[in-house]
Amino acid sequence: MRIGILTGGGDCQGLNAAIRAVAKSLMLNNNAEIIGIEDGFDGLLKRKVRQLSYADCSGILSLGGTILGTSNKANPFDYQGKDCSADVMSYYHELGLDAVVMIGGDGTMSIAYELSKLGMNIVGVPKTIDNDLMCTERTFGFQTAVSIVTEAIDRLRTTGHSHKRVMILETMGRYAGWIALHAGVAGGADVILIPEYPYNIDEIVSACELRASEQHYSIIVVAEGAKPEDGTMAVQETIADSPDPIRLGGISDVLKSQLETRLNGEVRATSLGHIQRGGSPTANDRIFATNVGAFAAKLISENLFGRVVVQQKNQLTSVPLEQVANQTKGVARDNITLQSALSLGISFGVANLDAMG
Ligand code: F6P
Repeated sequence: MRIGILTGGGDCQGLNAAIRAVAKSLMLNNNAEIIGIEDGFDGLLKRKVRQLSYADCSGILSLGGTILGTSNKANPFDYQGKDCSADVMSYYHELGLDAVVMIGGDGTMSIAYELSKLGMNIVGVPKTIDNDLMCTERTFGFQTAVSIVTEAIDRLRTTGHSHKRVMILETMGRYAGWIALHAGVAGGADVILIPEYPYNIDEIVSACELRASEQHYSIIVVAEGAKPEDGTMAVQETIADSPDPIRLGGISDVLKSQLETRLNGEVRATSLGHIQRGGSPTANDRIFATNVGAFAAKLISENLFGRVVVQQKNQLTSVPLEQVANQTKGVARDNITLQSALSLGISFGVANLDAMG
């Protein structure tokens, strides 16, 4: 058995733990040869692979990033204006691969789905700090990112408290508010703004004023994809050849300007950026990445392809790639953490969130 592994999209904590689990399981139980594909789909386009030994996959469990490299720019179906999928399929056959394990988020799974339709045997493994992959309750990287953002809120609180300021913290998460919601609740934010529910600035002003009547500072956590109800998302740049062509960022500065003119006090904005994706995974993310990696190896050994490993009702299972591709899992109104936050009086910048369509 000869199995390829690639990591696609943005890096995150737990990628190496997953690579290790896939590779070691397949080497030990199926005597498989493991071919590491470098830099995500770029490696399939530019023919960059290397065989991974057992030793290559040892000592990497706690390491951040990915030993294989990754890219969120190389889309074989739209690469420098061309469809290069036929070249990628030829290379797959030339390499003599029986299957490829693709570890990635929604962009990677969407490409994986298209390649599987062309005959590539693929098993998807879900990763992303954004936690926005359809059909799965969890992706590795998310829990670590939430811990990092929570610690940042704790640190911002001391300055907010000492200087009586409104402190805004911008998180990643693209079009979903998972990181902001979970870290906001874990860090005790007063206002949490997420893309799923466009905010009304007057609601945020009221929340800060109400809070000021008891504590003279407020913490606002805003997801990068959040937007005012009468405005648009803050975009930093657009990227060619990418399954994720829009880079978000900057909403915390927009919000700071909006609030400074309305509030009687100082406002400061901080954006955590890639710090959220860096460094070692938490113990829990290491375990989860190991579990999904070993589960992917099991699917391969059973010749079950065109599927993605997912967690549903706290159990690992798999679903067809088609169910995950080209979709985003957002925070639903009945989400337990969202509902808890509302019941504690945390503002989402919306007058009546439960009434929203
Ligand atoms: O999908 C992970 C993520 O970190 C998003 O939260 C963020 O919008 C994006 O990637 C940033 O991408 P890049 O690393 O290309 O700036």
